[in-house]
Amino acid sequence: MQYNFDEKIERYHSASEKWDAVENLFGNPEILPMWVADMDFRSPLPVINAFKERAEHGVFGYTIRSDSYYDAIINWMSRRHHWHIKKEWICYSPGVMPAISFIIRSFSNLDDKILIQPPVYYPFAQAITKSGRKVINNPLRYENGKYSIDFDDLREKLDSGVKIFILCNPHNPVGRVWTKEELTKLGEMCLERNVLVIADEIHHDLIYKDFNHTPYASLSHEIAQHTIVCTSPSKSFNLAGLQTANMIIPNPELREQFKKILEDHFLDFTNTFGVIATEKAYQFGEAWLDQCMKYIEENCYFLTSYLNQHIPKIKVVKPEATYLVWLDFRELGIDAKSFEKLMLEKAKVAFHEGYIFGQEGEGFTRMNIACPRALLEEGLNRMKNALQDNHA
Ligand SMILES: Cc1ncc(COP(=O)(O)O)c(C=O)c1O
Repeated sequence: MQYNFDEKIERYHSASEKWDAVENLFGNPEILPMWVADMDFRSPLPVINAFKERAEHGVFGYTIRSDSYYDAIINWMSRRHHWHIKKEWICYSPGVMPAISFIIRSFSNLDDKILIQPPVYYPFAQAITKSGRKVINNPLRYENGKYSIDFDDLREKLDSGVKIFILCNPHNPVGRVWTKEELTKLGEMCLERNVLVIADEIHHDLIYKDFNHTPYASLSHEIAQHTIVCTSPSKSFNLAGLQTANMIIPNPELREQFKKILEDHFLDFTNTFGVIATEKAYQFGEAWLDQCMKYIEENCYFLTSYLNQHIPKIKVVKPEATYLVWLDFRELGIDAKSFEKLMLEKAKVAFHEGYIFGQEGEGFTRMNIACPRALLEEGLNRMKNALQDNHA
């Protein structure tokens, strides 16, 4: 079936963090939200229909994960990512971030060093500091409009005694899909030093047409044994409110340790609707995802053309994945706080400001383009008018 991503769905009064928290967070209900990472699109119809059927049943007691749930994940990984995983490798978690936080606490000790690659999804650093571990930064390089890994710095940092490396693949917010070569180089460095890799691959389905995602743990048996892969249908099918994720852990010892933490906290229970959504999205959501990604790529093209034409001092860092676009506004000559104030107070648009992803993000902002094109245009017009008034 053909989905209509142009449809503007009213999200106010749906307890949406993105829309209903705007007034509280940014002080003005008229602000257009283009910040937190969810989409303004309806999920695939087979998911919605399965919810309706289950809701009609009316009994919502404790729920198990059936074989069909595991089969759906196994088949999805094999079909979309050419990664052949086993049922026993799949461990449930009520979200990727809760899992990462538990992994840090269970697989390292106080004051241990945990490496991240800023600018990067800021809850990584929060999870590290909140658990009393040390953040070690291996900042990404930004040259000629493209981000890459600084391998010399990485080697040096790993040699300083890093315990865990949180890899973001594809990378939020810079939109890189790490290549097989980059991942292999990185993987060999981590293997040599016995570093546990948490490969956060939550954005793995949101890949642009000229790029290919490589699941980090698919590189080799040895690498897989030192890796915990974080996946979830939440970003792929706009299901973040269902708090359902899957950690894929090929190494039996790591797996048992991970499972124990969740069991110890009585968090191994399943969200009834999360399980239905996962199963139906992976079984029947592929056509929706393909159409959605096409729409997002077209949005990105629209955004790039619009900025080139009307606000050429703001540059798009060309994404290879995700609906989160990293914008470089340094040519405007406005500091980060003034840009943020201008966007919120004058343009009335909310982004995720670059500096929250690490100091390397200063001068950049992250725009969520998973919305109908008319809303994207509205946000861009607001930016253009605010910047014109400001003589920027
Ligand atoms: C890289 C990355 N990891 C994790 C998350 C959050 O995942 P969850 O909601 O399952 O905790 C996000 C959400 O934007 C993300 O971008």
